[in-house]
Amino acid sequence: MAKLITEEQLAAERGFIIKLKEENMRYAAQNGRPRLALTETYGCQQNENDTERIRGMLFEAGFEFTDDAKIADVVIYNTCAVRENAEQKVFGRLGILKHIKEERRDMIIAVCGCMVQQEHITEKIKSVHEHVDLVFGTHALYKMPELLYKAMHQKKTVVDIEPSDGAIAEDIPILRDDSKKAWVSVMYGCNNFCSYCIVPYVRGRERSRTPEAVLNEVKELVKNGCTEIALLGQNVNSYGKDLDIDIDFADLMRMVNEIEGVERIRFMTSHPKDLSDKLIQTIAECDKVCKQLHLPFQAGSDNILKQMNRKYTKAEYLEKIEKAKKAIPNLSLSTDVIVGFPTETNEDFEETLDVLRQVEFDNIFSFIYSRREGTPAAKLDFVLSEEEIHSNFNRLLEVQNEISKRKNEEYVGRIERVLVDGVSKNDESTLSGRCDSSKIVNFKGDKSLIGKYIDVKITEAHTWSLNGETV
Ligand code: SAH
Ligand code: SF4
Ligand code: F3S
Repeated sequence: MAKLITEEQLAAERGFIIKLKEENMRYAAQNGRPRLALTETYGCQQNENDTERIRGMLFEAGFEFTDDAKIADVVIYNTCAVRENAEQKVFGRLGILKHIKEERRDMIIAVCGCMVQQEHITEKIKSVHEHVDLVFGTHALYKMPELLYKAMHQKKTVVDIEPSDGAIAEDIPILRDDSKKAWVSVMYGCNNFCSYCIVPYVRGRERSRTPEAVLNEVKELVKNGCTEIALLGQNVNSYGKDLDIDIDFADLMRMVNEIEGVERIRFMTSHPKDLSDKLIQTIAECDKVCKQLHLPFQAGSDNILKQMNRKYTKAEYLEKIEKAKKAIPNLSLSTDVIVGFPTETNEDFEETLDVLRQVEFDNIFSFIYSRREGTPAAKLDFVLSEEEIHSNFNRLLEVQNEISKRKNEEYVGRIERVLVDGVSKNDESTLSGRCDSSKIVNFKGDKSLIGKYIDVKITEAHTWSLNGETV
């Protein structure tokens, strides 16, 4: 059973929130405006969820928010380490902030999250980006009030990237982005050590929250008007393995399904090796669980899967997909794929295309392999050239785009229940929302529909979205 951060530790942090708030009130009285904070997230849903906690703590400490770095008093970048380009983006942003800070010496710059949980990155920040005041890793999230307070009162960079002893911090304040849809973490960390992946190193071992903690959070959300719950974990299928009670993810899903007021349940991510028949059956049986499965396969070749340490074969993966398709009518499928794992040959890559063609995913998230220092795959030599890998990547997109379009065309004429998210990015008079399978649906409608579920008849299919009209 995962330990909890003690009540004393949490109370100490609340004490720092109060101290910050007192200072912020004085600041506002003297300057005619409150201190402003800017947060930016670079990573996955887990990181988004962490940022919501950071904003919750900042809000309680009396900060207001801005998107403009030029006027922000505190800037916090919540970073991702999964691929090099995510890290480069942050270093680029820090370069820009340096110039802004030259004009505004008392600005506080903080970098947190997965990227800085790696020692070599934190060393680089300390030596190259001296204008950064605070660095804290994923395990120190709950300590942010204390660390920020220190950073505001001392010249030296404050750093906390201690690895965790596995304790979970419950009841950290939270300020969510969306009032209708919410991420709820069911577990933290990962034990799988896929050979290319940095996540287990920066997020630590798997720790499950208790079902009570999860269910209470969901009930609280529903009380505040939230209707769509996305259960989050790096590998939700191993939920509960570390608890002393006999419970698995399927059981937890059923419990959430029972909560009155919840309309939709989504979940991610599932690891194919742990996807049980019981979970498939539970998805099929629970009326509120969206008929959608994100099941990353990463590569089609058995040799590459073995070297990736994924612990399943192509045939086993395809068998699970078949089972899920049979048990869950109209199941929408998505996946993650990596192109250009060091030892991947063109023949191996053909196996990946073969999986795409056989499964016919609704959509895929595809990535070019990125070398991550400290992972086993980082030691391997590449078989293919960069050009060959890019050309394979483009072929992958071509094959999938055609399939995605075709899958979307199957929706034309159907009536879909859509939760309206807001107005479309491109056109103020168009509303945008998501249907059960999470596809984006655009349609004409009044802004008063935002946050509501409405029936939309699908009239047109594109590769990435659907068009429709209200019925
Ligand atoms: N826990 C989830 C997601 C992990 S990160 C899972 O196992 O599915 C999201 C995706 O990033 C992975 O599924 C993988 O496709 C990709 N990824 C991880 N490490 C990568 C690397 N070193 N290079 C390129 N893509 C990577
Ligand atoms: Fe990374 Fe594999 Fe864990 Fe996913 S399951 S987070 S890819 S190590
Ligand atoms: Fe997520 Fe990136 Fe961290 S994918 S867990 S934010 S390394």
